[in-house]
Amino acid sequence: MRDIKSHELRQMYLEFFKSKGHAVIPSASLIPDNDPTVLFTTAGMHPLVPYLMGEKHPAGTRLTDVQKCVRTGDIDEVGDASHCTFFEMLGNWSLGDYFKKEAISWSFEFLTDEKYLGIPKEKLYFTCFAGDENAPKDTESAQYWMDMGVDPSHIFFLPKENNWWGPAGITGPCGPDTEMFYDTGKPACGPDCSPACDCGKYLEIWNDVFMQYNKKEDGTFEPLSQMNVDTGMGLDRTICTLQGKKSVYDTDAFEGIMAKIADLSGKDYNDNEETTRAFRIIADHIRCATFILGDRNGVTPSNNDQGYILRRLIRRAIRFAQGIGIEEGGLCQIAKKVIEQYGETYPELIQNEEKIMSELALEEQRFSKTITAGMKEFDKVVKFMRDTTTLNGKTAFRLYDTFGFPIEFTLELAQERGLTVDIEGYHEAFRKHQEKSHAGAEQRFKGGLADTGEKTARLHTATHLLLGGLKKILGEEVNQRGSNITAERLRFDFNFPRPMTAEEIAAVEAYVNEAISKKIDVVCEEMTVDEAKASGAIGIFDDRYTEKVKVYTIGEYDKEICGGPHAQNTAELVSFKIQKEQSSSAGVRRIRATIEG
Ligand code: ALA
Repeated sequence: MRDIKSHELRQMYLEFFKSKGHAVIPSASLIPDNDPTVLFTTAGMHPLVPYLMGEKHPAGTRLTDVQKCVRTGDIDEVGDASHCTFFEMLGNWSLGDYFKKEAISWSFEFLTDEKYLGIPKEKLYFTCFAGDENAPKDTESAQYWMDMGVDPSHIFFLPKENNWWGPAGITGPCGPDTEMFYDTGKPACGPDCSPACDCGKYLEIWNDVFMQYNKKEDGTFEPLSQMNVDTGMGLDRTICTLQGKKSVYDTDAFEGIMAKIADLSGKDYNDNEETTRAFRIIADHIRCATFILGDRNGVTPSNNDQGYILRRLIRRAIRFAQGIGIEEGGLCQIAKKVIEQYGETYPELIQNEEKIMSELALEEQRFSKTITAGMKEFDKVVKFMRDTTTLNGKTAFRLYDTFGFPIEFTLELAQERGLTVDIEGYHEAFRKHQEKSHAGAEQRFKGGLADTGEKTARLHTATHLLLGGLKKILGEEVNQRGSNITAERLRFDFNFPRPMTAEEIAAVEAYVNEAISKKIDVVCEEMTVDEAKASGAIGIFDDRYTEKVKVYTIGEYDKEICGGPHAQNTAELVSFKIQKEQSSSAGVRRIRATIEG
C-alpha cells in the first residue's frame, strides 16, 4: 500500500479516470446555484442531477472531478475519528455511457494496482444490494467483483438502508450501489460483524452507485431514460487508510491546522480525550467555515439558511477554542492554515481571503463578548434548577436572544450536563418575540398586541390586501417597511422610488375592494418555515428552525407569514379607501387608509 498525500490522491484519481476517457470538470459551488431545496452541495452527483436525468453535459458522457461538499447532519459526531462537516468527494460519472462492469473493474484497478493505491485485496470488503420490491438482488455486481479475484466471503448483500443511494432530495435519480470498505484490522465486534456495523472495523472509502431509477413524488420508482454511474470516494478517509492513521484528523491534510491549534492553545492534541475532541471540532468547523465563506456563492453569518449553519459552526468552534485556552483572534490564524493547505486546489479561498478573515473576526468579536456571560448565566440557571432536569424554553430563548447561543448550542450544553431543554417552550418564546418585535419595530399595533379588537383585526387584514395590491400594481419588489394601526386607520410604509400616480392609487384601491366584494375567507394554516417559503408566502424568514409559523391566505390576493389577528372574511371590511400617499423617507412611501367596516 502506498503512503500518498492528499494532493497526490486528487491528482492521481483525476489522471486515472482521464486515462479511461473521462473529462475532468471543476468542483461546483458549495452553495447550489439554482436549488433552493438544499442548503449545501452534499455529494458529487448533486450538481449533476440534470445530466443524470438525461440532459446533455457539455463535457461529454464520462466525467471526473473532486467536489467540495458539506453535510451538517452528523455535526454531533464530529470529534470522533472519521466525521467531518466539510469533505471532498472524488467521483467519476457515466452519463448513459458505461455501467456496472467498467465501473467495478476500474474501481478495483485503482484501489489495488501498485501503480495507484496498491491496497492488498485481502484488506478490502464489498457490499451489494440485497434486492427488494423496487429492484432485484445485485448478483451482477457481486459477480464482477469475483471476476476481479475477490473472495465471496468478502462480499456482503445488504438492504436498501445500506446499499441504495439517493435521491438527494425527495425526488430524483437513485439506484442500488456497491460499496468498498477497508478492514482496519480491529477485531470483529461479534459473530454478526459486517461492513453494515459501525464498530470501526470496516471503513467505507468508495461507493459506486448505479443510477437507473427516478424516485417520484408518490414514492414509486420509474426507470431513468439512461443508465448512469455515480461514484464517490471520500478523500480524507482514503488518505487516512493509506497513511495508516487512526483518524482523518491525523493525516497530512490537517497537519498545519493542528499544529496551529496546539501553538495557540499551548495544549497537546493527545493530552486527553477531551482535548483531542476539541482540537478536531475546531479544525473541522474552521475548515468548513473557511470553505463556506470563501465559496463563489459564499455567504456570511446570519440567522437563516446557510448563514445560520455558518454561524453555528463558528460559534461552536469559539466555544471549544475558549475551552482549551485559545484567545480571541485565534480563529483567523487557524483559517490562514486552512487556506495554506487548500488554496492551491481551491483558488477561490485565496481570492476571498480578505472576506474570510474579516467575517471570521467579526463573528468572533460579536460572539466572544457574550459567550462568557452566557455560559455564566447558563451555569447559574442550572445551579438553581430544582426538581427538574429540563431547562425551560424561556431560558433557552434568553440565551439565544441576549447571548447569541444558537439553540443547538444550548441543547449541547444541556446534554453535557445530563439535562434536556423544553424545545417546544423555546419555539413558543421565539414566536411570541417575533410577533412582539414586529409590533414593536413597526408599531403595527399602537396599543400593543393586547389590542385585538375587531376593528384592528379588520384593518390588519386590509393591510395584507394593500401589500398584495401594491405588489400586483407596482411590482413584486415592493415590500413592507413599516406598519401602524390605530382604531381609525392603517398606516403602511413600503419601498418605492417615486410618488404613486392617481391611476396606480385607484388600481390598488380597486384590488382591495375586489377582494372585499368577493367575500373571501381568511385562511390561517400552520406550517414549517420551509413549507411557508415553498408556498410563496411573503414574510420575514427569521429562523429556519422555528418549528411552525402561521401563514394567512386571502384567496389569490395575498399570502403572508404573520402572527394575526385577522378578520374571518374580507366582507367584514365593507370598503377600503386610500386617504393619503406621501413620502416617508428616502425611497420609502407611506399610505394612510381607512375601511368602513
Ligand atoms: N452519491 C454517492 C455518495 O455520495 C456516490 O456516496
